[in-house]
Amino acid sequence: MQVTQLPVHWNIERILDDLDEHGFTLIDAAYSEQYQHAVVGECLQHLQQFRQAAIQNGVVSDIRSDHILWLGPEFTIADQHSQTLLALAQQLNRAFYLGIKDVEAHFACYNAGEFYALHRDNPQGKNGRMISSVYYLHQTWQDDFGGQLRLQDKHGNWHIIQPQPNRIALFQSDLLHEVLPAQQQRLSITAWLRSDHSML
Ligand code: OGA
Ligand code: MN
Repeated sequence: MQVTQLPVHWNIERILDDLDEHGFTLIDAAYSEQYQHAVVGECLQHLQQFRQAAIQNGVVSDIRSDHILWLGPEFTIADQHSQTLLALAQQLNRAFYLGIKDVEAHFACYNAGEFYALHRDNPQGKNGRMISSVYYLHQTWQDDFGGQLRLQDKHGNWHIIQPQPNRIALFQSDLLHEVLPAQQQRLSITAWLRSDHSML
C-alpha cells in the first residue's frame, strides 16, 4: 500500500492549533502549481457529468444551486488530494481522537448566481462527518467575484473566507456556514473526513 506523506511545507502544528482553538484553519498554496493545474484540468474535463446537488432521490431543495460530481479512485489526480487528506486524518486522530477512517469527496461547480445557503455538514453529529474540507481549484479569483465561504467558528464569531485558488479551508463539520452567491465559475473539491465508512 502506498502511504501518502503530507506536503512538507504544511505546518501541521499550526493546523492542529487552529482547529483546536477556532474549529477551522486555512492552508494557502496547498499544492504545487503543476498539481493545481492538473486537477483543475481533470475537473473541467468532466463538467458535463456534474449534476444538480440539490436533487436527492428526485426531490429538489432550494438550499443550494451548485452542481457536483462524486469522486472515486478513477479520478487519479483528484484522488491524490483525498490521499493527502487521509494522511492528515492520521494526525488529527492522534491529536483529537476523532476516529477518522474514510474520506468522501466531490467536485463542485458554482456558476454565476449559484450559492449554498446556511447549513451544517453534520447537524446533531449524526452522519459521521468530522472535518469538512474545501480545496479551491479555479485558476484566478478576485475579492469582488463573490462566492465567499462564510463560517461561524466554535466561539460563535463569523469569518468571511475568500475562495483563493490553491487554498484549502478545513473546519469542523458541525459548524454553521454558507457559500455566498458566486459571480464567476467557482470550482472546488469538497471532502469530508468521516469516522464511519462513506455510503458511496
Ligand atoms: C459544502 C460547502 C463550502 C465551500 O459543500 O458543504 O459548504 O466553500 N462548501 O464550497
Ligand atoms: Mn457545507
